[in-house]
Amino acid sequence: MRIALVSFLSFIFCCFFWTHLAVAVTVVHGQCLEDQQSLLLQLKSSFMFWHEHSSKLVSWNETIDCCRWKGVTCDNKGQVCGLDLSKESIQGGFDNSSSLFSLQNLQFLNLAFNDLNSAILTGFNKLKNLTYLNLSYAGFVGEVPVEIFQLTRLVTLDISSYFAQQQLRLKNPNMQKIFQKVNRIRQLYLDGVTISAQGHEWSNALLQLPSLQEVSMIYCNLSGPLNSSLTTLKNLSVFLLDGNDLSSPVPETFANFKNLTTLSLSCCRLRGTFPVKIFKIATLSVIDISINMDLHGSLPEFSFNRNLQKLVVSETNLSGALPVSISNLSQLSHLDLSLSQFNGTLPVSLSKLKELTYLDLSFNYFSGPIPSFNMYKNLLHLDMSSNLLNGCHPPSLFTLPFIRLIKLSNNRFQCPLQILEISTSNLLEALDLSNNNLQGSIPVTISQLKSLYVLQLSSNKFNGTIRIDMFRTLENLTTLDLSQNNLLIDANVRDSYPSFLPEMRNLMLASCNLAKFPSFIRNQSKLFSLDLSSNNIQGSIPGWIWQLGYLTEFNISNNFLTMVEGHVQNASATLSVIDLHSNQLRGNLPVFPVYVNYVDYSMNDFSSSIPSEIGSYLSSIIFISLSRNRLVGSLPQSLCNNSNLLVLDFSYNQLEGTIPKCLMKSESLVVLNLQHNQLGGNISYTFPVCIKVSISQWKSIGWYDS
Ligand SMILES: *[C@@H]1O[C@H](CO)[C@@H](O)[C@H](O)[C@H]1NC(C)=O
Ligand SMILES: *[C@@H]1O[C@H](CO)[C@@H](O)[C@H](O)[C@H]1NC(C)=O
Ligand SMILES: *[C@@H]1O[C@H](CO)[C@@H](O)[C@H](O)[C@H]1NC(C)=O
Ligand SMILES: *[C@@H]1O[C@H](CO)[C@@H](O)[C@H](O)[C@H]1NC(C)=O
Ligand SMILES: *[C@@H]1O[C@H](CO)[C@@H](O)[C@H](O)[C@H]1NC(C)=O
Ligand SMILES: *[C@@H]1O[C@H](CO)[C@@H](O)[C@H](O)[C@H]1NC(C)=O
Ligand SMILES: *[C@@H]1O[C@H](CO)[C@@H](O)[C@H](O)[C@H]1NC(C)=O
Ligand SMILES: *[C@@H]1O[C@H](CO)[C@@H](O)[C@H](O)[C@H]1NC(C)=O
Ligand SMILES: *[C@@H]1O[C@H](CO)[C@@H](O)[C@H](O)[C@H]1NC(C)=O
Ligand SMILES: *[C@@H]1O[C@H](CO)[C@@H](O)[C@H](O)[C@H]1NC(C)=O
Ligand SMILES: *[C@@H]1O[C@H](CO)[C@@H](O)[C@H](O)[C@H]1NC(C)=O
Ligand SMILES: *[C@@H]1O[C@H](CO)[C@@H](O)[C@H](O)[C@H]1NC(C)=O
Repeated sequence: MRIALVSFLSFIFCCFFWTHLAVAVTVVHGQCLEDQQSLLLQLKSSFMFWHEHSSKLVSWNETIDCCRWKGVTCDNKGQVCGLDLSKESIQGGFDNSSSLFSLQNLQFLNLAFNDLNSAILTGFNKLKNLTYLNLSYAGFVGEVPVEIFQLTRLVTLDISSYFAQQQLRLKNPNMQKIFQKVNRIRQLYLDGVTISAQGHEWSNALLQLPSLQEVSMIYCNLSGPLNSSLTTLKNLSVFLLDGNDLSSPVPETFANFKNLTTLSLSCCRLRGTFPVKIFKIATLSVIDISINMDLHGSLPEFSFNRNLQKLVVSETNLSGALPVSISNLSQLSHLDLSLSQFNGTLPVSLSKLKELTYLDLSFNYFSGPIPSFNMYKNLLHLDMSSNLLNGCHPPSLFTLPFIRLIKLSNNRFQCPLQILEISTSNLLEALDLSNNNLQGSIPVTISQLKSLYVLQLSSNKFNGTIRIDMFRTLENLTTLDLSQNNLLIDANVRDSYPSFLPEMRNLMLASCNLAKFPSFIRNQSKLFSLDLSSNNIQGSIPGWIWQLGYLTEFNISNNFLTMVEGHVQNASATLSVIDLHSNQLRGNLPVFPVYVNYVDYSMNDFSSSIPSEIGSYLSSIIFISLSRNRLVGSLPQSLCNNSNLLVLDFSYNQLEGTIPKCLMKSESLVVLNLQHNQLGGNISYTFPVCIKVSISQWKSIGWYDS
């Protein structure tokens, strides 16, 4: 059956181009030899794997030629030369005696993404002809045997593992010696393998591998410094060292890499000035130097470059302007300068970057207006929050066909919000314009942004009346923040919208001139956080609020409420923050639920005593203020039960008696404020050092120096 061409292809594919064409080779098969078939069947029966998660092993059977089994490739003599058992959910049953190690002609072996849960077996060194060995994320643990590095024909070696688990270690003092024999290697992937080598050790080890094209040693516990001789690796194209504590500058000579396409040095504690020439390496397509807070420098003038696609300089200390010449990077699709020290105005030329899909300039000091976005047809993600930008946002923003996130919060934009035409297929999921000076009314067209999950318009100067039910079309909305504007919100929702905002998690309507407790909230069964503070709400806090099963933060401070209905202590176990301060609430102090962390009942008109069992409700409280009420009686001893309390403020009440000693000895308390009560007795001087005690006024109520 075999014809010459097929044999020829088979030979070529199998012996030389495995690494690149492995997927394409299924068309090429020799005829299966019996011993090879039986080795494969033994292998299959030794493995434990989930049949439902297997696509290759599960189909192996004698009815067809073993060279045609999925994942198996044979050479022209019918010997198995390639085996791809990646992602087969193999769970174990792999040991030194495995028949795998008898497949002597193997050149290509991929066991990636399994759950073998075994040491890397020394048996691998029997497979002398291997050129491609991929054991990444295969569930291997323990030490990487040096025998692996005696496979002298290796061109590709990938033993990456999940770095969080530190499952694999390379434990040999002489890395240089170990690497000596694998000098044909082109792709070396050791992500997550704990290597713990010093800069000169691992650099010298790599320097012996002149054919290296791709090196990835992410989270390998490597130390610095980065050695400038690494540039002698002329063919190096991908160099990834993220997550190693290199604590060194980047050598200027790195700009001499002639064939570098990807350089990633994120989270390496780099220091000094980043050599600006590196940004200008003509072949570079991806550069990431993010999360290096001690790295200084600036962006260069870019010359025309059709290669650079991804530029990530976030969380560094790089500063200066975004150069006009940024537009020379005609293929740039991902630009992230966030959380750095950049300043100046944004060049108009920025709008020429037609390929941009991701633009993040947030948390810098950029000022002035933002350029037009007409050209950004592919933009998905736009974040310019927390800068000093002003002027108007371009109305064209909302017409971009693929845009999903727009974040312009914490700037100085001061126009009316313009949302002109919106295509019905718009995909915008998050719009955050909070903390600006936007004016005028909130356009009703906003209700056409049907994919919105997050809408944040707080802290602007929007005015006019808004009917909350205009948002009913936003069926997936989880966060709505209209707080701190000059809006008058009509929170009546017509009965004809029974499932109004069914996904709502965070509803922020602070300072919205609400006169009534909005009754639609009763049906927001997924509500997590509710802020109705600083409105004009009168009457009672309705009892149903304590029945919202996920409510975690509840703030209704600064209103005119007089009654708490229902049983606060029966509220959902998720409730962690209750802020009722500055109302006119009367009667008995409502007991709070057990797991609350923050309670502010201050500035009300509660007139009961503090319940003696309060301690049993305090187990997780960090902050409690009952200040400025009319509370009477003594401080319950049970207050001593709590050990996490940071702030206790019962000032300005009519409490009597003595202060429980434990409060003064508390290790956690930072603020203890009991002033303006009628407390008496001795005050011991055992306050921990950092405690700030407010004891003014105590003298006048009979406290004396001891
Ligand atoms: C053997 O494998 C082939 C191809 O996967 C499949 O169609 C056939 O049903 C299998 N036969 C048995 C007996 O499992
Ligand atoms: C495999 O064999 C080697 C000796 O060749 C031995 O050191 C190692 O412990 C064995 N590993 C397992 C898992 O049996
Ligand atoms: C390795 O491959 C060569 C041909 O490239 C072959 O002659 C030799 O027998 C193979 N070695 C083993 C151990 O199979
Ligand atoms: C190893 O195999 C996995 C799964 O097939 C693949 O994603 C990865 O790119 C391979 N590594 C190399 C270096 O080829
Ligand atoms: C990482 O390397 C340092 C030395 O550079 C060493 O002290 C430390 O033990 C290593 N960590 C691990 C988990 O091996
Ligand atoms: C570097 O790559 C070129 C082109 O692929 C190749 O001809 C040359 O042999 C490689 N150099 C080394 C040392 O492998
Ligand atoms: C870089 O490596 C070379 C060669 O091993 C060595 O001589 C030099 O000291 C190293 N430089 C640094 C900064 O470690
Ligand atoms: C440069 O790298 C590219 C991509 O990795 C590769 O195709 C090319 O052969 C390399 N050129 C040289 C001269 O090494
Ligand atoms: C970052 O740079 C600024 C000056 O641009 C300097 O004041 C600050 O200390 C630097 N921060 C760090 C962590 O180096
Ligand atoms: C940008 O910041 C630098 C200091 O880091 C300052 O010298 C320069 O004047 C600033 N430029 C603008 C336009 O604010
Ligand atoms: C709401 O979310 C669901 C689930 O993610 C999605 O299928 C649906 O298309 C979304 N609705 C709109 C109007 O985007
Ligand atoms: C809203 O504010 C704008 C100016 O910012 C003003 O012209 C307009 O009259 C205001 N509208 C209302 C209803 O207060």
